[in-house]
Amino acid sequence: MPQTDVIIIGSGLAALSTAYHLRHKHITMITKSSWVTSNSMLAQGGIAAAVHHRDSWKSHFADTLVAGCYHNNETNVEYLVQDGPSSILEWCERGMNFDYDEKGELLLGKEGAHTHHRIIHAGGDATGKELTKFLYQATRSSINLIENELVIDLIIKNGQCLGVYTKNKQGEIEQYLASKTIIASGGCGAVYGHTSNADVITGDGIAMAYRAGAEIADMEFIQFHPTMLHIDRKCVGLISEAVRGEGATLINQNGKVFMNDLHHQGDLAPRDVVSRAIFDEMKKGNTIYLDISMIANFTTRFPTISKLCREHKIDLASGKIPVAPGMHFLMGGILTNDKGETSIPNLFAVGEAACTGVHGANRLASNSLLEGLVFGKRIAEYISTLSFDREYFFNEVPSMYQTEIELPNKKEIQEIMTKYVGIQRTENDLLYAVKWFESYKDQVSFWDFNVKDFTIEQIEVINMLTIGWIISSSALTRTESRGGHFRLDFPESNDQIWRQKYVIRTKDEMQ
Ligand code: SIN
Repeated sequence: MPQTDVIIIGSGLAALSTAYHLRHKHITMITKSSWVTSNSMLAQGGIAAAVHHRDSWKSHFADTLVAGCYHNNETNVEYLVQDGPSSILEWCERGMNFDYDEKGELLLGKEGAHTHHRIIHAGGDATGKELTKFLYQATRSSINLIENELVIDLIIKNGQCLGVYTKNKQGEIEQYLASKTIIASGGCGAVYGHTSNADVITGDGIAMAYRAGAEIADMEFIQFHPTMLHIDRKCVGLISEAVRGEGATLINQNGKVFMNDLHHQGDLAPRDVVSRAIFDEMKKGNTIYLDISMIANFTTRFPTISKLCREHKIDLASGKIPVAPGMHFLMGGILTNDKGETSIPNLFAVGEAACTGVHGANRLASNSLLEGLVFGKRIAEYISTLSFDREYFFNEVPSMYQTEIELPNKKEIQEIMTKYVGIQRTENDLLYAVKWFESYKDQVSFWDFNVKDFTIEQIEVINMLTIGWIISSSALTRTESRGGHFRLDFPESNDQIWRQKYVIRTKDEMQ
């Protein structure tokens, strides 16, 4: 049975940053598809940090809290924004090529809810891809990378995490034992019908942590990115907020601008505000566009977006790109402390899979790549100080009997989430969604289920059912509106009860 110091589940920026800083250990990184398939690779706009002499970490801190509707863990935010500039500069020194002006200064873009230009970018609008590729090159020779193998469950014994079960491409079960296991498998975008996330992001890491007994928090906070390319009623890719940062405005089919009347930051208001405004316009039957006619060098500044538009036959010379909101980011996840520790000994989480509280109820633009770099390093440095057992005692033979089960398909789950647990929620809709998920409970007890008996496709569906059920029931519990959780029946924030309160879910509450 393979044994290793550290297992890292996932291969995005948070996974690679953690692996880089733990490279003196024996690391096995396991990813369900190829390493290039991650949300980090799709991130366009950039990475936020107060590197300009007229900017400050205090300003970045304040913007993060305003966007997060003051639900943030302030200690962790302070760490994120204070450590951000040096973490990024370290990667510059290692040779990472961000975009610079002719004087050799980092070019700084602007995005929603930032009061300063502080978005560092690479390849114009290919920041995630360039940065992830760079970290991969820096890390590859120090890790044992296993691709196309799905981690299906954690191995838990005497309350401690001892490693993972996986299913390989042939559908065979493998076991890997490790002293420390780190979940860095991203969020859960694919539980919604319209998403900027990679298709593979089915919430597997969070669902397996829940089955293992870990605390899961803030799952009702879902960030819908305001501007996804919208073709034939489908969202087909991201149009970065950096486009609005360069001056683009949102208009309807009659050319009417609408954000200036709704928020003092206009088109660059926090994402939750802009997404709801677009959603309201669309409910009135309007079609929404980004007017990009004022951006002179659009194709040079935004090569990735220009390519996406060309692939979908959008004529950029018309100056208009059709857009709609889509699921983009999960603020909640596996509850961790500032060192990435979960409620299960020897199990850690980092990146979008984790809930450190840095994003509060709504993430500030371009703080997610930053979280991956900063918290990856912090967690790795902490783990390096721990003792590593070299003796593993575990030899359970997993069950392999096939069970008859009737599951919905992924599309049905996505439709329920989009329709009933979307940008605007009500008690009735949420109750409908919760009941729909619970109608599968006789077959799939989300909190106590042996997934080993199922195919990879079935396991992904079970994970999506688990996540959909946790999101909808958590959204039902939070009787207020805040950031990425908006209730038409409770449209105001209730600071007295909810500002710093987490909806925490564990399987213990079900037993
Ligand atoms: C964008 O470029 O608009 C997305 C970046 C982010 O999610 O922070």
